[in-house]
Amino acid sequence: MQQNETRVPWVAPPSGIAMGISAVYAGNASTMLTVLEDDSVDLVVTSPPYAERRKKAYGGIPAEKYVEWFLPISAELRRVLKPTGSFVLNIKEGTHDGERQTYVYELALALRRQGWLWVDEFVWHKTNPFPTGNQNRLKDGFERCYHFAKTKNFKFFPDAVRTKSASKWAGDNERRKNKGAHRTTNGSGMNMSRRITGDLVRPSNVVTMPSSSINIEHPAVFPLGLPEFFIRLMTEEADAVLDPFMGSGSTAIAARGLGRRYLGLELSEEYLELSAKRLARTPLSRNQR
Ligand SMILES: C[S@@+](CC[C@H](N)C(=O)[O-])C[C@H]1O[C@@H](n2cnc3c(N)ncnc32)[C@H](O)[C@@H]1O
Repeated sequence: MQQNETRVPWVAPPSGIAMGISAVYAGNASTMLTVLEDDSVDLVVTSPPYAERRKKAYGGIPAEKYVEWFLPISAELRRVLKPTGSFVLNIKEGTHDGERQTYVYELALALRRQGWLWVDEFVWHKTNPFPTGNQNRLKDGFERCYHFAKTKNFKFFPDAVRTKSASKWAGDNERRKNKGAHRTTNGSGMNMSRRITGDLVRPSNVVTMPSSSINIEHPAVFPLGLPEFFIRLMTEEADAVLDPFMGSGSTAIAARGLGRRYLGLELSEEYLELSAKRLARTPLSRNQR
């Protein structure tokens, strides 16, 4: 197929959600992305291969070539993303010769130069980090998820990811009802209980969850909660979610479970098969049955 000759549209059938076109494909993201329509994706959530890692499993791009390798792919992602869309990039640099690599920082700056708006960075705080065996460094307990957008007008629904409050002010209303009046003002006289609706509050940009512990044939599986968090935060039902480095299919599975359309690309046919098997076991969200 000639590049740009036939673009794959994300067309919703008359019946509503276009789960019929949700699909996973084997292929190289660099070329596969070129057949997607402009402005057709609501959210990209992905974790590309990190530099110089897992060479046996899936290559291993040298750190000094990483930005050069990634920019043509991110240019395609920018083209296919809607103006209201977001791109969440999970990546963490490793260490080399006694110090942290710098390619991820260089990539973030290069993406800005490419025209992306660097909205924020989220920290994925892992509650079960691997021991490093390194004398000069502690266990690596976090990875970053960079949030980029095409415009300032991206979809964002913080109420969809409300979480239980750890604040000492939470529950004050309830306690007062049960036990009479209590002090609910802070040192500046602000009524803190009014700032907390129920016990559910908007979370911070630190997302705490363990690495996936499922035993499947892929070395870097997302915990499902991670793509789910971003899908809830940045999309609505039936929106289109893309993972160009889909691995074992976690982003697609999270999207399917939440009633979003999905498209997954994966270089390895073996991983593609794995993702297809996992997807087949994933029930559609209730609103799509
Ligand atoms: C870090 S893993 C993603 C894991 C995924 N988040 C999951 O939950 O399973 C990166 C994946 O990208 C795939 N990959 C590497 N280069 C690729 C390319 N050029 N195009 C598409 N997929 C690629 C690898 O085979 C690997 O499965």
